[in-house]
Amino acid sequence: MRLEGKVAAVTGAANGIGKGIAFAMAREGASVAISDVDEAGARAAANEIAEETGVRTLGMKCDVTAATEIDAFVADAVQKLGRLDIMVANAGIAIGARAIDTTPEQWDQTMAINGRGVMLTDQAAARQMIAQGGGGSIIDLASIAALNGISPTLMAYCASKGAVAQLTKCFALDLAADRIRVNAIAPGLVDTDIWGKMFQAPGILDSGMREQMAQSVPLGRMAGPEDIARMAVFLSSDDSDYITGQIHVVDGGRTIGLPSGPARR
Ligand SMILES: NC(=O)c1ccc[n+]([C@@H]2O[C@H](COP(=O)([O-])OP(=O)(O)OC[C@H]3O[C@@H](n4cnc5c(N)ncnc54)[C@H](O)[C@@H]3O)[C@@H](O)[C@H]2O)c1
Repeated sequence: MRLEGKVAAVTGAANGIGKGIAFAMAREGASVAISDVDEAGARAAANEIAEETGVRTLGMKCDVTAATEIDAFVADAVQKLGRLDIMVANAGIAIGARAIDTTPEQWDQTMAINGRGVMLTDQAAARQMIAQGGGGSIIDLASIAALNGISPTLMAYCASKGAVAQLTKCFALDLAADRIRVNAIAPGLVDTDIWGKMFQAPGILDSGMREQMAQSVPLGRMAGPEDIARMAVFLSSDDSDYITGQIHVVDGGRTIGLPSGPARR
């Protein structure tokens, strides 16, 4: 098991990619601290992972926009699980709105969670890793939206993920001397609730677009959380100990171009 003896923490891990990452790290032997703004969901995910994998887990509320809550998350993880080796800044939202119609409130909310939340998470993790010594791995969830605009109806989201990509590189430079590696994962189209939350915005995305999205991926399908989790495990393990400050695209080929015909299944 590649993460035996390590302690990992994941924000926004009650659902979707974060939960998938927490599960994958637990299966590799890590103890896992899970937080989410949805406290019941975080506790349920922690219990499910403990039961299925046998590792020690912690589930608690943490709104990543609040520095005090992030600090409490790291402190509780260290107190209950012993140390902190891996932090995954995963919590994020996407609000569907045309660029021209995006309100200042939608922009601020997106930046608060996706931008400021990742900054605060990385800072809190880094402070703990520096204090305990021995290095660590921090992983930020960016998106292919950081590399090219994926939709005119996701302007604030695209901008926030661009911020994540750049702050990842700054943290990587700042923390390299402490042997703390900082990388970002840029997933393509992952089949999680984030899309359902956007579907609730009338006229922005509908279920027909789900099939279109799968067809737009050269490998012919949307990703599942487990596809992203495999990269997170690699970036947490010693197998990646010479890799820092990079944006790792996991997108089934989506950013290299569109398939020339219907993607083969
Ligand atoms: N699904 C995709 O296609 C996709 C693609 C690229 C990047 N991402 C990124 O991956 C990450 C996870 O997305 P997902 O698809 O699993 O979404 P999701 O909606 O399934 O899960 C996101 C989780 O974050 C939590 N959350 C929201 N606001 C929070 C806050 N203020 N504090 C703490 N937790 C909060 C939610 O409760 C939820 O459990 C996000 O950063 C997202 O932008 C997703």
